[in-house]
Amino acid sequence: MFTGKKVAIIGGGKMGGILAQGMVSRKILSPRNITVADVDPARLRELRSSLKLRVTEDNREAVKEADIIVLAVKPQNFPDLLKEIRQASNLSKLFISIAAGVTTDSIEHLLTGKPRVLRVMPNVAALAGEGAAAVARGRFARPDDVRYALAMLGAVGLAVEVEEKLMDAVTGLSGSGPAYCFVIIEALADAGVQLGLGRDLAEKLAAQTMLGAARLCLQENQHPARLKNMVTSPGGTTAAGLRVLEEGKIRATLTGAVEAAARRSRELAGS
Ligand SMILES: NC(=O)c1ccc[n+]([C@@H]2O[C@H](COP(=O)([O-])OP(=O)(O)OC[C@H]3O[C@@H](n4cnc5c(N)ncnc54)[C@H](OP(=O)(O)O)[C@@H]3O)[C@@H](O)[C@H]2O)c1
Repeated sequence: MFTGKKVAIIGGGKMGGILAQGMVSRKILSPRNITVADVDPARLRELRSSLKLRVTEDNREAVKEADIIVLAVKPQNFPDLLKEIRQASNLSKLFISIAAGVTTDSIEHLLTGKPRVLRVMPNVAALAGEGAAAVARGRFARPDDVRYALAMLGAVGLAVEVEEKLMDAVTGLSGSGPAYCFVIIEALADAGVQLGLGRDLAEKLAAQTMLGAARLCLQENQHPARLKNMVTSPGGTTAAGLRVLEEGKIRATLTGAVEAAARRSRELAGS
């Protein structure tokens, strides 16, 4: 599908690097067809030596040669970046933004003409090939553009298309979600250590438990409450643990976290 296509990733930081690595390791694109542009020469040297990609400090040069441009800088760097590259943009190019809270409308306004823009919310688990990403299309994006983005992101996990008005919710849930899971894993491991398990063992057990439960949910395609009930015997150990989770208001706390992140995503869009 990507035969002959050239991709430029502007911003070779955490997420830009993860997407580049995912595309190379899953053989979506050959490294010679991926160019990463960044302001940090040390970061570029690192990416070139680890992934054998093409790298440049010149954003315009990267855009000029690419068919698909992934915008992977922080939201606050977008206005300057888009002003810088707008002259190199034309209808033959597809822009894919991965920035939290930056709307397709604002990107379209900062580029020229009727640019083909997609907004994507990936997550860090793409690094392990287990990402969860959503794609929303701008006014001028074509159905084929969405297919490219889904293929690119699908190589590193789950990728779905949503309407743009749902992007803040996606950001709050799956964009920021890995961080919530890391906190839960850390807390479970700390509890294991308190009870006498070695740190390494406790962390492995906690992480694998999270992974296993998630896999089971997806594989069985059942309501999570049904799976929870399946492992909760009357008067048993799990029932005792669950009572403490409910007393600690875990549901309200997680709902609050997702809502706060979605709210922040909306605030960033307005700023
Ligand atoms: N990290 C996540 O889990 C995650 C999840 C979903 C979405 N995102 C989105 O992904 C985007 C990137 O996040 P990140 O965590 O990867 O950030 P990051 O690690 O800071 O990476 C951004 C990179 O872009 C460079 N940069 C800044 N301005 C530039 C410019 N004008 N031209 C070229 N390169 C420039 C930065 O260099 P300096 O550091 O020197 O400024 C940095 O190396 C953000 O918009 C974020 O909302 C991130």
